[in-house]
Amino acid sequence: MVLQGRRILLAVSGGIAAYKIPFLVRLLRQSGAEVRVAVTPAAETFVSPLTLAALSGQPVEQHLVLQGGGRTSWNNHVHLAEWAEALVVAPATSNTLAKAANGLCDNLVTSLVLSAKCPVFWAPAMDLDMFAYPATQRNLEVLRGMGHCVWPSPEGELASGLTGAGRMAEPEFMHRELELHFGVRSFWRNKTLLLTSGPTEEPLDPVRFLSNGSSGKMGEELAAEAELRGAKVVWVRGPLRRSDRSWTRRVRVVSVRSAAEMHAAALEALPEASVVIAAAAVADVRPAAQRHEKTPKEALTAPLELVLNDDILASLAANKKAGQWILGFALETHDGTASAQAKLRRKGADALILNMNTPETGMEADTNQVALVRRDGVEQGPLETKKTAASRILDWVEHYAANA
Ligand code: CTP
Repeated sequence: MVLQGRRILLAVSGGIAAYKIPFLVRLLRQSGAEVRVAVTPAAETFVSPLTLAALSGQPVEQHLVLQGGGRTSWNNHVHLAEWAEALVVAPATSNTLAKAANGLCDNLVTSLVLSAKCPVFWAPAMDLDMFAYPATQRNLEVLRGMGHCVWPSPEGELASGLTGAGRMAEPEFMHRELELHFGVRSFWRNKTLLLTSGPTEEPLDPVRFLSNGSSGKMGEELAAEAELRGAKVVWVRGPLRRSDRSWTRRVRVVSVRSAAEMHAAALEALPEASVVIAAAAVADVRPAAQRHEKTPKEALTAPLELVLNDDILASLAANKKAGQWILGFALETHDGTASAQAKLRRKGADALILNMNTPETGMEADTNQVALVRRDGVEQGPLETKKTAASRILDWVEHYAANA
């Protein structure tokens, strides 16, 4: 978990979208982050500090000066700002971001921004005209110029009833952006991963095709984990069932249907790749002839002539240049290691991920047990979620590709 133990300071200013901040706090805490929350006086009218304190498990910071019980003390915002590894201002009202862009600090939140030495992320939220107002846009530009990260304010329905740009980024988006920020690994700097995944479909006629039961789940987790680590990913993807995941610009999806299309797309992307992972369950054969009209069912009982598809992994390995590292997959039902070793030699990859087809580790399952098979050894992972298996696989890639 990339956010485990990360210290994240949330600064909340007074906009209606503040009601969503408890969801962000919960997402971050579920990912193992330590969360502290500071609010402006206006924010308290939109979200209860008690809610934020309960969800973060920490007192909520509200004032620069603490008064009560006959005592006055100074709330040391510098300590809080130094504690943070990331400062998120969400929602960021036009007022708060204007103050920060101009170096004003009349409350705890703006003082934290001016004191922060960590990366600062802004989630502007306001009505569309306020968002489009030239001074607001100029202030956002000033913040970007200071090295701060301004998250997009998507278009949509606004609290005023109007529709346009100015909504606060969703908590899930902010959570993922923080994961992407903390997940970056130096191995992937300026490196591209070429990933194939999913099944392929080999058309028989306009309505029928040959395929297999690949769910594409393992490939999707590999794409997400590589994105998280900062890789540029070219993801050549066979037809998949719908997924709600959204991807940053780091991931370029090339959708294909047949093995021939996947082969062409993968070969085209190969020159830019440092690492190749061939996770696709490519259909081994295709009908020798594709009919252009629907076949009447009576004709379907006639023997079907099939031809072998090209082996994409073998073809990528044959075209490999120095410095490229290629990982294949082998899904086996028996003699796992021996079959995978033979497959590795036959295809010319640098290593293979072996997984056995069982109810817990097969194509449909959400779990997997993977082994890395190299020419001179095998490393076995435990039964785990496909997400954790993807992380294990990329750890192996980073280790062995760096030492190749
Ligand atoms: N593969 C490929 N092109 C094919 C067939 C397989 O690129 N036409 C790749 C897969 O993406 C995987 C590896 O080869 O990385 C092994 O796939 P697998 O289906 O286990 O092996 P096959 O070569 O199909 O052998 P068999 O079905 O006989 O086990």
